[in-house]
Amino acid sequence: MKKYLVIGNPIDHSLSPLLHNFWMKENNIEAVYEKKKLNEDELKKYILDIKLKKISGINVTVPFKKSVIPYLDQLTEESQNTQSVNTIYLKNDKTTGHNTDIDGFKISIEKLKFDIQNKKIFIIGAGGVVPSIIFALNKMNISKIFLTNRTKQKTQNLKSQFPNINIVDWGAVPTSDVIINATSVGLHKDEKLDLDFSKCGKNNLFFDVIYNPKQTNFLKLGKELGNKIENGKMMFIYQAALSFKIWHGNDPVINDEIIKMLD
Ligand code: ATR
Repeated sequence: MKKYLVIGNPIDHSLSPLLHNFWMKENNIEAVYEKKKLNEDELKKYILDIKLKKISGINVTVPFKKSVIPYLDQLTEESQNTQSVNTIYLKNDKTTGHNTDIDGFKISIEKLKFDIQNKKIFIIGAGGVVPSIIFALNKMNISKIFLTNRTKQKTQNLKSQFPNINIVDWGAVPTSDVIINATSVGLHKDEKLDLDFSKCGKNNLFFDVIYNPKQTNFLKLGKELGNKIENGKMMFIYQAALSFKIWHGNDPVINDEIIKMLD
């Protein structure tokens, strides 16, 4: 039986097996999708298993999206440009790394009733998912990207990767239309970003990459201030659907049942 994996560390929280196993069953695909907690020194072996066709596909999550790169034969343009891989497969006998987080983010924004064209975007955080968000935004006709992070060095690294971004000191909140929390602040219920959003105005979009809890304090505040809010759940579902399409060739269904299943 074909085998698929999501690898990361920690991995217990991952909902990818639930989603992929549901879709495979629905599409009568005889395969199993499991989660596997790994240490960095095991990455090479698992990628070799793709080459040996012992594993048919791997999703990569925190903290390995960058560190898998040296072990792969080739990267798609998306993963090359973001230095981030979340989907691995065998193509022409070459282990190939691709990044579906980019279009996962892009589609989740496009499906909202919020016109992002010519808008100013403020990204908070500089972790693993941020290069994918910037790359996606750069394809979306936005006007300007501001970026801030508690540790400034990481914003400078991103600036050398994406010269068009504007670095903002930690603590400042520039006037913007879309505010994205890409930090891990909010994963625990009482955590709150130490930033003042009170002058952000209304009818803007507050987007949080976090989807569990459903409404972080950042989103609660955005809503109280009269803004549209969106968590990272649809981004997660779309990135999974794009991986599914690469591995199995067809688009899995995305409906209310699936969206609820992940609650
Ligand atoms: P990832 O797993 O996405 O790669 P990460 O690299 O640990 O995660 O990044 C988490 C992000 O949340 C970082 O931008 C981190 O800021 P630092 O680079 O300064 O560590 C941010 N973050 C985590 N805790 C934070 C806090 N209490 N206040 C502000 N930012 C925080």
